[in-house]
Amino acid sequence: MSTENTGQPVGIIGGTGLTTLSGLQITGERSVNTPWGQPSSKLVEGRLGDQSVVFLARHGNPHRIPPHQVNYRANVQALHDAGVRTIVGVNAVGGIHPDMGPAHIVIPDQIIDYTWGRASTFFEGELEETTHIDFTWPYTEKARELLISAARDEALSFSDFGVYGATQGPRLETAAEVLKLERDGCDLVGMTGMPEAALAAELQMNYVCLALVVNRAAGKSDHIITMTEIEAAIEQGMSGIKRILEVSMAGLGGLTPQFS
Ligand code: HPA
Repeated sequence: MSTENTGQPVGIIGGTGLTTLSGLQITGERSVNTPWGQPSSKLVEGRLGDQSVVFLARHGNPHRIPPHQVNYRANVQALHDAGVRTIVGVNAVGGIHPDMGPAHIVIPDQIIDYTWGRASTFFEGELEETTHIDFTWPYTEKARELLISAARDEALSFSDFGVYGATQGPRLETAAEVLKLERDGCDLVGMTGMPEAALAAELQMNYVCLALVVNRAAGKSDHIITMTEIEAAIEQGMSGIKRILEVSMAGLGGLTPQFS
């Protein structure tokens, strides 16, 4: 895979706690439409260091769209149409694995989809043929390596593995549901990891998840989950997420699209 800069912008989909990307030198903002409807926010175009970037706020700006109502297809399509071939999805998650406490960063390597009723594929309607994409490895390994090496260089508290359990929300889980997720092999739980990753794969784009643990998952601590706790973890951990984005950006811009 080439690491020469392709000149293509990198897409960043910011989740809870990352509605705007400070440090991005903004060159333009565009409201766009897609055959699937409007994306969650304007596309904010700019530069992070030397790399051109297109930023999109998954829950809108201001934060108003709940996880089950995000138009994931419009978001991924809008980035694709803007020339993006590599997406970093930033996600706030609950930690199940004992090492994954608040403010810890995770670059997961697998995902299990527990969501339902979401528009989760581009392949529908009058199709000429049915397509089954390969999704064995949902995250682009080369992109994961770039995030991992940036996290290591910045000496951050992070894990370079993890199975992301994508739940429907918007409520948080019961303690029994988290035990079930754990038995299934999930290390972290969030509500926005799917169908975003699969949609990117359908468009043959590189996709990687950069997750910030904002609470211990339900039943994994001695207290109930509060917004105060979540906000404190975001405050503590988001600077590390931004450092990883800044350090890895040029490398991500040099990845060739999947299957090319
Ligand atoms: N569960 C699901 N989604 C989440 C959580 C959680 O505990 N924390 C942040 N997003």
